[in-house]
Amino acid sequence: MLGITKHFGALVANRAVHLAVERGTVHALVGENGAGKSTLMNVLYGLYEPDEGEVRIGGQRVTRLSPARAVELGLGMVHQHFMLIPTFTVLENIVLGIEQSKGGLLDLDSPRAQLQEIIGTYDLKVNPDALAGELSVGMRQRVEILKVLMRGAGVLLLDEPTAVLTPQEVEELFKIVRLLKSQGKTIVFISHKLREVKAISDRLTVMRGGEVVGSHATAGVTEGDIAEMMVGRKVLLDVKKAEAKPGDVCLSIQDVTLVGGGSKLVLDHVDLEVRAGEIVGLAGVVGNGQTELVEVLAGFRAPSDGRVRLDGRDLLEMDVLERYRVGLAHIPEDRHKHGMVVDMDARDNTILGKQRDEPFSRSGVLDETAILLEARARIAQFDVRPPRPDVRAGDMSGGNQQKLVIAREVSREPRFLIAAMPTRGVDIGAIEFIHRHLIELRDSGVAILLVSAELSEVLSLSDRIAVMYEGRMMDVMAASEATEQRLGLLMAGIHDKAEAAH
Ligand SMILES: Nc1ncnc2c1ncn2[C@@H]1O[C@H](COP(=O)(O)OP(=O)(O)O)[C@@H](O)[C@H]1O
Ligand SMILES: [Mg+2]
Repeated sequence: MLGITKHFGALVANRAVHLAVERGTVHALVGENGAGKSTLMNVLYGLYEPDEGEVRIGGQRVTRLSPARAVELGLGMVHQHFMLIPTFTVLENIVLGIEQSKGGLLDLDSPRAQLQEIIGTYDLKVNPDALAGELSVGMRQRVEILKVLMRGAGVLLLDEPTAVLTPQEVEELFKIVRLLKSQGKTIVFISHKLREVKAISDRLTVMRGGEVVGSHATAGVTEGDIAEMMVGRKVLLDVKKAEAKPGDVCLSIQDVTLVGGGSKLVLDHVDLEVRAGEIVGLAGVVGNGQTELVEVLAGFRAPSDGRVRLDGRDLLEMDVLERYRVGLAHIPEDRHKHGMVVDMDARDNTILGKQRDEPFSRSGVLDETAILLEARARIAQFDVRPPRPDVRAGDMSGGNQQKLVIAREVSREPRFLIAAMPTRGVDIGAIEFIHRHLIELRDSGVAILLVSAELSEVLSLSDRIAVMYEGRMMDVMAASEATEQRLGLLMAGIHDKAEAAH
């Protein structure tokens, strides 16, 4: 790809980007959220037309790219969000779009044979007759890979393929990628996880703010180097923290159960305690009840059964506002939905939920001066940029929006803080800041429940770690006893190695 530029209105998503991928290699495309990686891949796959630049495949300039043309040229894309039809079998999903009919009937015999051959070659064990909807996430991803291989792809574009996988599933994917490479396939692997990039790629290209900042042989750079290129300055990857000094139990969850649609248990008799001055990390693959548990704690949802106490007080009796008043604070998973009002300015967002309280409201009238002072103080304290109370929240970057939300929640001086995906969609610079702040809060005696899909975040911040799987609390352990391997098995619902062998 030579000099690719792509605008979305005034925004430049790709600016004069060069990407050279050698045949038969794994090339990592690395960058923070919003760096322009997916845009570049969509240009390559013919989904977007670039404003400038050209694409060459095997030395030949390709014009008027479209996904159909890209497939003809041997490109295959596995999107971050899978596109399988749940009520179709694996084979039917794979044949979809390339089917040949035999006298008006769908011919599944020759594709079946071809599929079996590919499954054999790449050791991609999948049952062709299983329903796609009944497969695990890792399996569905395999089907997507099989699908592009069936279409004869020589170059596979994998857009953040590990984002939805457990550590063991990541290992299995890596085995597949290595096998694909050994058979001469070319892989573009998109990720922002440095360890994965180091583990799997031969070369890497780093993007920042729509531009390429460097391309290197992977063996020649460290994780720290890559992080620095991604962010544009030195970053501390390890969180420095002293031993926790936990006090009394602050939050106690007992036997909390939530029945979902089809009488399925979304939360299955969950027990958990968080002490003052400790961070309990809640790990798990997204969608195993973590979100619902947080919703129960925050008061968005009533459980079917169970008890939740904060400093001995029954939280479930209270509405959201009352919970805040007795010491709860909440950094929500979806900041746009539950954390802020994007159409309001930074100033009003800093007092959301406190607008009825003194000094912001006096005898039912908002005190504009007090609100402005508060906004200025929070913006300065959390280094929110731009440092202007009148900026529309929706126009700030994700990292600064998140700092604003955290600043507001922390200024409640909570007893118990729920930090749900506190660094999702946030750049590395802000991640560092947020992590340091959470540790400071812990050290000041706040009880913190950290919910995160990033295992490295859970491991580096938590004092104790709990793992959820299908609504159940699989285990709770001291962080010192947790390894990625152990957590990964629990995240897949497996208690020990013997079980894993089955
Ligand atoms: N279809 C689109 N319309 C408008 N803006 C877009 C579109 N797709 C991406 N962007 C913007 O372009 C920038 C790069 O996005 P993207 O390529 O998705 O980054 P990455 O994949 O590295 O996270 C971001 O600022 C994003 O908001
Ligand atoms: Mg992307």
